[in-house]
Amino acid sequence: MTVAYQTPAAPADASEFDLSEVLPTCKPLGGLLDIEYDWDRVEVPDSLSWFEKRWSTRRNPLDFSGVWRFRELLPFAPDDMIVTVGEGQTMLRRSDRVAKYCGLNAGCLHLQYEGLNPSGSFKDNGMTAASTHARMVGAKLAACASTGNTSASLALYAGASGHFRCVVFVGSGKIAFGKLSQALDYGAVTLQIEGDFDDALMRVREVCDEANIYLCNSVNPFRLEGQKTIIYRILEGMNWEVPDWIVVPGGNLGNSSAFGKALIELKKLNLIDRLPRLAIINAGGANTLFRLYEHDGLRWNDGEPDEELVGRFYGEMDAENRRANTLASAIQINRPVNLYKCLRALDATDGVVREAHDPEILDAKAQVGAGGFGCEPASAASVAGIKALRAEGIIAPSDRVVGILTGHELKDPDATVNYHRGDGASAKREFSNAPIPVANDAAAILKALEGLT
Ligand code: F0G
Repeated sequence: MTVAYQTPAAPADASEFDLSEVLPTCKPLGGLLDIEYDWDRVEVPDSLSWFEKRWSTRRNPLDFSGVWRFRELLPFAPDDMIVTVGEGQTMLRRSDRVAKYCGLNAGCLHLQYEGLNPSGSFKDNGMTAASTHARMVGAKLAACASTGNTSASLALYAGASGHFRCVVFVGSGKIAFGKLSQALDYGAVTLQIEGDFDDALMRVREVCDEANIYLCNSVNPFRLEGQKTIIYRILEGMNWEVPDWIVVPGGNLGNSSAFGKALIELKKLNLIDRLPRLAIINAGGANTLFRLYEHDGLRWNDGEPDEELVGRFYGEMDAENRRANTLASAIQINRPVNLYKCLRALDATDGVVREAHDPEILDAKAQVGAGGFGCEPASAASVAGIKALRAEGIIAPSDRVVGILTGHELKDPDATVNYHRGDGASAKREFSNAPIPVANDAAAILKALEGLT
């Protein structure tokens, strides 16, 4: 066996599977798998700063990639199998304006802009890894269900690499246009399922198991290996110092699960000396994790979480026909597939979960936007969450906080324009910056500019 293998996330099950196996996903404990490594047989650098040397060899596409330049920390693929499109050229920016908005001291808030990836969201970090595994096993067709960004990313990798074709499942009427346009333009077979994301994900899992199609949702453990590198790049941006908090929006909980795994491994490998605390922010209209974790006390419990509690929760949800509903459409998810792995991450990092409602999310988004760059609504949940945790006194003003901005501003221009104009579901808000109608006349224009000149 190579140094890497697949193993169930449930610690009670010590089975090991070779990387060449594509395992069915409809199993107990969510059928969740991890990629594990025999670290004694991997040459891991002594310190994280070792990775800086890759900046000088970035003509090598593997060293250019913000994922694969850390390949010693996700050593599952031979170099010549790696599928990369130059993902992960993202950045950590100090943001004093947003810090002030959240109630943090100047210099204490950094935002990690993952929207700068080739397809405009953090998904590329994971899709390069899943695409690599798909290539390793010779997959000809890959699929995913998506609220939009996963499908955009998979479509991009299928189109750019040419190693496989792809089919994407999206819910009806639930997808931001920027994202749908990407899937279409990159040539994905795009199925609009009658139903929402939760329905689409259940169907794609069934279809993939049945028809031997390679599944690229975050239930795919290879994807999460790629998403670990967001943590490495954050640490690099912080000059390898561990922040006090990392705050991330929670949808299907792939990112939070990957972050937990990355941090646990780094600590085990003595590459960091302590773990930051993780805060996961649900949208108020899609708050399964918040309710289960903060209200019902669901915990990782050494790998034996209370699955009956979760079953009852979903049973009630179905009986009441509660569907996820938020303007942050990327995280409009009621049945997060990585729930159990995410509990492990919360356990390791003394984590907390909060919910942010749409008006708070959109205000936070406007503040991020006003600082330049911007983000899509779901991403701003992290900023709204930081503000709420600061107000509660859980985050201190002097804590060093990193907020993850998961997707690009232009993914969902409707949400932005509606907020600023006070159209659609958004009433005009404090930071609305509506366009000003003005006559086709210089005098009228100058009048409109009074006070600015
Ligand atoms: N932010 C954005 C912009 C997303 O697109 C997603 C997930 C999340 C946050 C949540 O991340 O699932 O790791 O907790 N989007 C998925 C999709 C579901 O289909 O594009 P998570």
